[in-house]
Amino acid sequence: MTWDAQLRQDARWWRRQVVGVEHQVELLDGRRTTYVNLDNAAATPVLHSVQEAMRCAEETYAGPHRSSGYKARRTAELYEQARAAVLRFAGAEDGRRIAVFTKNTTEAVNKLAAEFPLEPGDVVLLSEMEHHGNLLPWRGRAELAYLPLDAQARLNLAALPDMLERYGGRVRLVAICGASNVTGFVNDMQAAAETAHRFGAKIFVDAAQLAAHLPIRMGAAGDPRSIDFLSFTAQKLYAPYGVGVLISPKEFFREGAPDLKGGGAITFVSLEDVLWEDPPAREEAGSPNVLGAVALAAALRTMEAIGMERVAAREQQLLGYMLERLEEIPGLEVLGSPSREERVGTVSFLVHGVPSRLVAAALDWEWGIGVRAGYFCANPYMMRLLGLSRQEVARLRDRVRSRGQGEVPAAVRVSLGLYNVEEEIDRLHDAIRAVRLGEFRGRYALEPATGEYLPDATHEAGSTL
Ligand SMILES: Cc1ncc(COP(=O)(O)O)c(C=O)c1O
Repeated sequence: MTWDAQLRQDARWWRRQVVGVEHQVELLDGRRTTYVNLDNAAATPVLHSVQEAMRCAEETYAGPHRSSGYKARRTAELYEQARAAVLRFAGAEDGRRIAVFTKNTTEAVNKLAAEFPLEPGDVVLLSEMEHHGNLLPWRGRAELAYLPLDAQARLNLAALPDMLERYGGRVRLVAICGASNVTGFVNDMQAAAETAHRFGAKIFVDAAQLAAHLPIRMGAAGDPRSIDFLSFTAQKLYAPYGVGVLISPKEFFREGAPDLKGGGAITFVSLEDVLWEDPPAREEAGSPNVLGAVALAAALRTMEAIGMERVAAREQQLLGYMLERLEEIPGLEVLGSPSREERVGTVSFLVHGVPSRLVAAALDWEWGIGVRAGYFCANPYMMRLLGLSRQEVARLRDRVRSRGQGEVPAAVRVSLGLYNVEEEIDRLHDAIRAVRLGEFRGRYALEPATGEYLPDATHEAGSTL
C-alpha cells in the first residue's frame, strides 16, 4: 500500500475512535444528513478513550489531596498522573518543569501575565497574529511591541533580532502563538526561542492551535532552543471538559503570591500571615478539575499512541486536498498565503459576493456542515488580512460601538481534525459552489447586532435569497 493510501486508511480508523461522527441532523428542507464538523479549531469532539477514562475515574472519584480514604488517594494519583502525561506530551519531562492546570488557555495566559516579573520600562513582544487571549492579558502589564507580518500575513521572524536589539535588553518576554487560529500558519518557535534567549528574553508559546496538530518538543530547560512557557487547552484536544495547562520552569512560581488565592495553595495561614505551598499546588487554589485533567491525559495518551508525526502527515494530506478543492471555486479567496506546508489544517477564506456569515448559515442549515464565520477572536489579525487601514479600523470601532458586533467584517474558517475525510471536503466544495451561485434552499434574516444569519421562518423553504 502506498504511504498516501496508508494515511487515508489511518484516518478511517481514527474516525472510529471519535464520538458522534455519524450524528444525523435535519436540514432546512426536512432531509437528514450526517453532520460534518469542520470547526475543530473552536472545539474538537470527544474520543471514546476519553469517555472510558472518565467512566473509570468517576467510579473512584472523591476529593483529592486533603481527604483520606482509597478513593481520595486514587483520585489524587490520577490527577498527578495527568500532570505527568501533559509534561510528556509537550516534550518537557526534564524534571525541571511543572504543569499547572487552569480552566483554559486564556486563564493560563492571564496567570502568566499576572505573575511574570515586570518592572516599569520592561517590554513584552507579541505578534500581530495573536488571538485576543494572548493580547489582552498583557495590556497594562508592560510596554508592548508587535512582531510584524510579511506580505502573506505570516509572522516575520527575521525581524525578531532587530526588534530585540532596538529595545536594548528591555524585552523580558516574547509571547507568540505556535499556530494561528485564523490562517493556521505555524511559527518556528524553536528559532524564536533561540533568538529571544540570545537577547536575554524568555519565550512563551500559546500552543492552543498547535497541540492537536503537530508534535511539541519544549526541550530541556536551559537549552537555547527550548521553550520556557507553553499553554494549551483540552477543548481543542478531544477532551473538552474545562481544563487547560500552563507549563513553566519549576522555579518560576516560587516568588510572591499566586494570582488565585485560597485553600490548597498554602501550607499555613494565621490571621496575619500565610505560607504558600510549592508549585504547582500554590497555583491551583480551590478544588481542582480532576476529571477534566483525567480526560486530557487520556486524549494525550491516545494521540501519542497514534503518533503525532502521523497525525501531522495525514493532516497535511487532507489539507492539500481541501486547498485544491477550494481553489476550484471561482471567487473564493484564501486569506494569507494559500500554500499548505507551513500551516496546520486551518484555512480562512472569503467568497466574493456573499457575506461570510451567510455562507456559514447556508452550510449549516442546508448542508449540515459546521464551520465558523466571524473574526475568530483575532480582530487585529483579521483587519490586517482584510487590508483595512488605520482610519478604516477607527471608523469600524465607532460603527461597532453604535450598531453592534455584526459590523465587524467576517471570513469563513474551516479547520480539520484527525477524523475528517475527503468526502466531507467534497461536500464542503459542493456547498460553497452552490452558495456562490446563489442556489439557496431557504431565506435568511440578518440579526444586525451579531451579524448572524438565521433562517427566516416567515418564508417557505425552497425560495431563494
Ligand atoms: C491561538 C489561540 N489562543 C488562545 C485561545 C483561547 O483558548 P481558550 O478558549 O482555551 O481559552 C484560542 C481559542 O480559540 C486560540 O485559538
